[in-house]
Amino acid sequence: MPLATDDFLDIDDVTPAELDALLDRAAAMKAGETEPRLPDTTLGMIFEKPSTRTRISFETGMTRLGGHAMFLGPDDLQLGHGEPLRDTARVLGRYVDAVMARLFDHADVETLAEHADCPVINGLTDEAHPCQTLADLLTIREFVGEDATVAWVGDGNNVGQSFVVGAAMAGIDVRVATPAEYGMDPAVFERAAAFGAEVEPTADPEAVVDGADVVYTDVWVSMGQEDERDEKVAAFDGYQVNADLLAGTDAKVMHCLPAHRGEEITDDVLESDRALAWDQAENRMHAQNALLVELLEKGDAGES
Ligand code: CP
Ligand code: NVA
Repeated sequence: MPLATDDFLDIDDVTPAELDALLDRAAAMKAGETEPRLPDTTLGMIFEKPSTRTRISFETGMTRLGGHAMFLGPDDLQLGHGEPLRDTARVLGRYVDAVMARLFDHADVETLAEHADCPVINGLTDEAHPCQTLADLLTIREFVGEDATVAWVGDGNNVGQSFVVGAAMAGIDVRVATPAEYGMDPAVFERAAAFGAEVEPTADPEAVVDGADVVYTDVWVSMGQEDERDEKVAAFDGYQVNADLLAGTDAKVMHCLPAHRGEEITDDVLESDRALAWDQAENRMHAQNALLVELLEKGDAGES
């Protein structure tokens, strides 16, 4: 069933029922339902920041679906040379069938969606990373089940914020430990509460890890925050996901990647059987393929 939303800017742009169906479809596609579903379809991909997983999973995914993805990096568009975003959006929407954008400012992806006459997918902004959440929820379904308890330990920005809302939508019990000065936007907890989840953030990693099925972390220094490295690393003292923090638990460990071993996670933990990071990375493609098909089924593309 096509999604009601035209764009996918954050995880709660879909309903819990749509999210559930999307994950079912992603699992079916992963299991081998791979026939081309988006022939003659082009995805424009705008990147203001670097990427390994997002670029490659969308590009490979579009190939598998019978379509084409076009990489548009910071030096490839007039956007980087003074052309306004809304003009870029209007023009792009007249060529491509969908746009995926990795931008700094979340307001910019909203502007893109407002002015592009085609679906727009958020491939990460400073506030949100909903495609990562789709892959994370698929991974939790596969390895733990949706009655999971997940402890978020670390920075409270894009990946964590979308995950908390998505987990609430999926009925996953989520706990959050962040340093007070790098906590999540309080609106995130209000959005989670709209789906029945009461999340009380704390500054105590050990408390949230106790009894958790999964411990999830992300880098301390996000893309664009390189100048804040020293103060952020100091603020996250005690938040490293390491053998001590995990002692006495058999929790799995999630990481969206890229990982900075020795900062938010240790090498031994990421290399251990606890780590689900590689499955999360693979699931980006399966989850996004399902999303692309469901977003584009509204038009002629994708009908099968
Ligand atoms: N997790 C993720 O989005 O990775 P990339 O930055 O490599 O795309
Ligand atoms: N929080 C990280 C996520 C990378 C996928 C960043 O924004 O750099």
